[in-house]
Amino acid sequence: MSSTEYQHVTVLLHEAVDGLNVRPDGIYVDGTFGRGGHSRLIASRLGPQGRLVVFDKDLQAIAVAQAWAANDARISVVHDGFATLKSALARLGIEKIDGALFDLGVSSPQIDEAARGFSFRFDAPLDMRMDTSRGQSAAEWLAAADEEDIHEVINNYGEERFSRPIARAIVAARQTAPIATTGQLAKIVAQAVRTRERGQDPATRTFQAVRIFINRELEEISAMLPQAAGCLNTGGRLAVIAFHSLEDRLVKQFMQRHSKPAPLPRWAMVKDSERPEPPLKLVGKAQKATEAEVAANPRARSAVLRVAERSGGSFNDE
Ligand SMILES: C[S@@+](CC[C@H](N)C(=O)[O-])C[C@H]1O[C@@H](n2cnc3c(N)ncnc32)[C@H](O)[C@@H]1O
Repeated sequence: MSSTEYQHVTVLLHEAVDGLNVRPDGIYVDGTFGRGGHSRLIASRLGPQGRLVVFDKDLQAIAVAQAWAANDARISVVHDGFATLKSALARLGIEKIDGALFDLGVSSPQIDEAARGFSFRFDAPLDMRMDTSRGQSAAEWLAAADEEDIHEVINNYGEERFSRPIARAIVAARQTAPIATTGQLAKIVAQAVRTRERGQDPATRTFQAVRIFINRELEEISAMLPQAAGCLNTGGRLAVIAFHSLEDRLVKQFMQRHSKPAPLPRWAMVKDSERPEPPLKLVGKAQKATEAEVAANPRARSAVLRVAERSGGSFNDE
């Protein structure tokens, strides 16, 4: 099977695209193209004047996006992290958009292709980069990192209670031989972890942590949120699907913080009705996949979709 042929089943497809409230002549961003499940539905709702800019870090995702966009002048493809949103849009001559969607994390093709090194289910080179054209692989990082840094990554991004013995075991193991494969790392972790939650591989949390670190996943989200929300026209929508609590916390806190009036000192005698309008308005509650979707696609189990709309208020830095 060629690397672009692995399938990705889109999560919360209609919920997320409906959340964008697509206007046929609007300008939209899909910050995580993957295999284009959300993008195709967005494009089907655009008229000839509409535009869609898609981002992905992954070269295979970008190859699929370019092939799809080749005959459609409404679509632009950006091979970069979505943290570069504002400057990438500026290069395309776009300042304001009407909606942006982010379906975070990794795609099924990335997990399913052993050679990408994301999964402990296969033994393969330990890479884990979404963008294999730049940056450090997981193997390169683990070969040189301090024990304390390894512990912090596994503890903070994996919420793994055995992060300390795992970090110690990694440092001890690499003195004998480089940790070059997913199988080696999974074995080292399994030996260091004494008890495990039912139904979970002992390496799950460590692999998640290293992946988040290598791809700077949380930094990318923190940098993207103010740019995406700041680019929205009034009435424009931001829709984000998160797959674990660390991602979702960033999204939830950002949306909540900017949908409440800015706090004023107690001595400022301003009535609530006179306080400046916040820049965002929450649209509905956080949505989860239906039981039927989870039954058909277990990856949807942990997905949480949040949507916010740009109101007339401005962000502090505008
Ligand atoms: C869950 S998949 C998206 C699937 C897509 N919605 C679909 O239906 O086909 C996430 C994709 O986003 C990409 N990605 C993750 N973080 C990114 C970032 N910071 N910048 C750009 N792309 C990113 C990954 O490479 C992956 O292809």
